Amino acid sequence: MAQTTLYSRAVIEKRVTELGQQISADLAGNELIALCVLKGAVFFCADLVRAMSMDVALDFIQVSSYGNQKYSSGVVTILKEPQLDMRGKAVLIVEDIIDSGLSMREVFNYIENRGATMVKTATFLDKPKSRKVAFHADYVGFTIEPQFVIGYGLDFAEKYRNIPEVQVLSE
Ligand code: IMP
Ligand code: MG
Repeated sequence: MAQTTLYSRAVIEKRVTELGQQISADLAGNELIALCVLKGAVFFCADLVRAMSMDVALDFIQVSSYGNQKYSSGVVTILKEPQLDMRGKAVLIVEDIIDSGLSMREVFNYIENRGATMVKTATFLDKPKSRKVAFHADYVGFTIEPQFVIGYGLDFAEKYRNIPEVQVLSE
């Protein structure tokens, strides 16, 4: 398998910093919970909240749909529920990548009924051409073509998450 660089560490850092500043400007005045979607968004979320200039609480949710496949099974299960009370808070769902849109739609619907005053979504990467269901994120790091990427939290069968840059994985 070949791996080629798509976004270097420096490019990622610059873009995530911009996003953090934009989100703090937009959401200032709200009590904010950043809800990190495990496991892929861990690195993005850690960098994003540190680029924000407002108080932010952290929580985690985990969903599963992929198994060890490159393509979605289409079945989304909640593996870990958030712990914080979301009533009266603004919630920012932080995801690594939106592909078919199934995972994000599921997480969004699940969080919508928990009493948050506002639910926003941020994704590090977006593959809009791969959608099976419509989903539009409020904040997008980079929009990419339908290709399989790894690194900066993104895995293939649990491998490559710790690569600091984003690479395209091809046969
Ligand atoms: P969706 O439900 O098809 O939108 O898929 C979203 C999830 O699939 C993401 O949270 C990732 O975990 C995984 N995924 C989708 N595309 C890729 C990719 O290119 N590389 C690594 N993981 C991916
Ligand atoms: Mg994921």
